[in-house]
Amino acid sequence: RGERAGEQDLAGRHVVISAGGTREPLDPVRFLGNHSSGKQGYALARTAVARGARVTLVAANTALPDPAGATVVPVSTTGELSRAVTEAAAGADVVVMAAAVADFRPVHVATGKIKKRDGVEPEPIALERNPDILAGLAARREDRPPVVVGFAAETDDVLASGRAKLARKGCDLLVVNEVGGGRAFGTEDNEAVVLDTRGGERHVPRGPKEDLADAVWDAVVAEPALS
Ligand code: CTP
Ligand code: CA
Repeated sequence: RGERAGEQDLAGRHVVISAGGTREPLDPVRFLGNHSSGKQGYALARTAVARGARVTLVAANTALPDPAGATVVPVSTTGELSRAVTEAAAGADVVVMAAAVADFRPVHVATGKIKKRDGVEPEPIALERNPDILAGLAARREDRPPVVVGFAAETDDVLASGRAKLARKGCDLLVVNEVGGGRAFGTEDNEAVVLDTRGGERHVPRGPKEDLADAVWDAVVAEPALS
């Protein structure tokens, strides 16, 4: 477990966690989505409750039991997730964006089911960018949450990509997972590095998602903005 698991070091703190993966509808029955199970975000919620925090869990398309003691806000699209996180973030001490957020959404959402027709090629799907929720929160001039945490799943040059992403996003901590080869998505175990803006890195060996969650909270309570 983390160095400080078992302590009530998040007592009096309100933490907001996004979990799962957003879905962008194409028509009433189809969507663009991703493989995020939400397990890491739920582990963050359970461990934060155990460490004394008030927890709001914004859950995008998850199928997991509600963590006892957390307020769960179910959402589906990136727009819904953005609104729910923004609302919950008002006055919060920490926002952790563990959700896998769709970078793009279809420009047009068909009102009826898209049908195939003999001899007619399918239309390409035109996409537009979704807003970056994490970068938006981190760049706030007013009401910026004191600690903003991002997650990144990387396949190559994990540390260098993570450092660059931490700077680009403007957040305080970035949890970098190496994915590919069956790692991370939907699995019970996770292995990651938690980067801070002072050059610090906490390497969390492969283990249960609770262990990584506790290491994230260790890094959060060590942030100058909270102490
Ligand atoms: N994120 C977000 N809003 C988005 C996209 C991502 O808040 N529209 C958050 C994720 O929740 C995560 C972090 O940003 O905490 C990093 O996500 P990632 O997909 O790794 O970053 P991107 O900037 O989208 O980079 P990439 O092009 O590698 O996907
Ligand atoms: Ca992305």
